[in-house]
Amino acid sequence: MNVTIEKVMNENELRDIAELASLIWHECFVGIITAEQIDYMVERFQSFPAMQAQIREQSYSYFAVRDGADLCGYFAVKPEDDDRFFLSKLYLRSDKRGLGIARKMLDRVFAEARSAGKKSVYLTVNKHNDHAVDVYKRVGFTVADTAVTDIGGGFVMDDYIMSYIL
Ligand SMILES: CC(C)(COP(=O)(O)OP(=O)(O)OC[C@H]1O[C@@H](n2cnc3c(N)ncnc32)[C@H](O)[C@@H]1OP(=O)(O)O)[C@@H](O)C(=O)NCCC(=O)NCCS
Repeated sequence: MNVTIEKVMNENELRDIAELASLIWHECFVGIITAEQIDYMVERFQSFPAMQAQIREQSYSYFAVRDGADLCGYFAVKPEDDDRFFLSKLYLRSDKRGLGIARKMLDRVFAEARSAGKKSVYLTVNKHNDHAVDVYKRVGFTVADTAVTDIGGGFVMDDYIMSYIL
């Protein structure tokens, strides 16, 4: 394995992330949310124009995770105005899970947060996404709160808010 993590710097890379996001979301959220909600959320949050807007208007940064030349994962982060750093997305293609790549991704998230001068990292995770919750706990996140968020289209996100002190 030769894993690299690089900030997404151009539109072509972001288009590749959008394609990967759709693939992963349509696999990993089956059984957690409905197929209709997956389609809706991919379009609303992970399509190329949606991610372009997040980067341009909301200070998001996307990072591409590759094994050699193979784009196999991504994450997105955003510095908040206070001392928190938001981990917005953390996704790995299924064939690359269980290999220690997630740890490298999270270490990079923590490094980015520290270099932005932040004191904690927080995220939201679906309450029924058991594996992701276990991984976050293992790495040192704790459940700080819960949130039910109306995302339009008749859908809600039913999440834990988890936090990691740097
Ligand atoms: C979440 C995700 C990125 C984690 O990646 P992963 O490859 O499955 O995670 P890993 O197997 O590398 O596990 C990371 C750590 O958690 C630990 N872990 C994994 N499963 C665990 C469990 N059930 N209980 C406790 N610890 C666990 C691992 O041992 C590892 O710890 P270590 O580095 O100390 O050995 C990946 O599963 C994924 O992309 N899932 C689908 C998308 C998703 O749900 N993303 C999160 C949305 S909020």
